[in-house]
Amino acid sequence: MNTAIVTFSPTGTSSAIAQAISRGINPGEMKTIDVTRGEAVTKEFDSDTVVVVSVPVYGGHVAPPALQRLEHISGNNTPAVAVVVYGNRHYEAALDQLAEFLGNRGFRVIAAGTFIGEHSYSTAETPIATGRPDAEDLRFAEQFGKAVGQKLSTAPNAPAIDVSSIEKPVQDAEVMVSFQQTVMGWMQQGVPIPSAPQVDTNLCTGCGTCVDCCPTHAIPANSPSTTDAGVCIKCCACVKACPTGARTFPTPFAALLTKKFAEPKENKTLL
Ligand SMILES: Cc1cc2nc3c(=O)[nH]c(=O)nc-3n(C[C@H](O)[C@H](O)[C@H](O)COP(=O)(O)O)c2cc1C
Ligand code: SF4
Ligand code: SF4
Repeated sequence: MNTAIVTFSPTGTSSAIAQAISRGINPGEMKTIDVTRGEAVTKEFDSDTVVVVSVPVYGGHVAPPALQRLEHISGNNTPAVAVVVYGNRHYEAALDQLAEFLGNRGFRVIAAGTFIGEHSYSTAETPIATGRPDAEDLRFAEQFGKAVGQKLSTAPNAPAIDVSSIEKPVQDAEVMVSFQQTVMGWMQQGVPIPSAPQVDTNLCTGCGTCVDCCPTHAIPANSPSTTDAGVCIKCCACVKACPTGARTFPTPFAALLTKKFAEPKENKTLL
């Protein structure tokens, strides 16, 4: 069976997980549709291809640009692996949303996974799941891919699974409530939440790395020390890629997430 990866992954963690799963299914084969820096694609898959779809979680949902750019992918009873990657807080509705999106487009979701990736807002001062997926996460993802391959070789027409029965991350309810209360308090007090990264013009060399990695073309090539906040999705790809540290995203969420979600969560899969 052929394999294909479909991903949107500004900071690379969703893509890394998809590659590891795909390696496990079929070490020799890795066709990739990566819509991170491109526009929407139109692509129809046949039933001889298993498609690994891996996307990040934003606000408990699939990152909106992923769904927009993948709106025109479709399958013909095509087996799919639905994967959401989240920054160690929670993924809430995202996996159900992705499975429904794929089901509505002719895919048969025969396996699913929820994986941890370093949080987009993570910094040296406010670490959140730093370095994940690490080597162990990638081994786990590859093993999962092997199990998907075995499932498909013994039951190529396996029916779609109910992804809502996947084991949920262990999460202290009090922590979740206090996180939500803190955020509501910020809103009531009008605590400023930045709508785009800021740039230290003294550190910016004009190298253009941020321009090339921005998924929404929010950074003008002729003025890379500026950002169009109207189209920025706060993915922090530019912050992580900037070689001089000129770009930062000083959101109060980073310290809060560090404080409340320090306990590493586990990847979960369902076949
Ligand atoms: C705007 C935004 C919202 C996010 N919301 C969540 C969330 O609700 N839960 C969570 O655990 N992580 C959240 N994250 C973190 C990402 O899901 C995580 O860092 C993921 O690994 C990023 O994937 P990528 O490397 O493929 O871009 C959010 C990140 C961003 C930029
Ligand atoms: S990557 Fe950093 S240094 Fe390079 S142009 Fe962008 S902000 Fe300036
Ligand atoms: S400018 Fe905004 S959308 Fe573009 S890479 Fe930076 S954070 Fe992401």
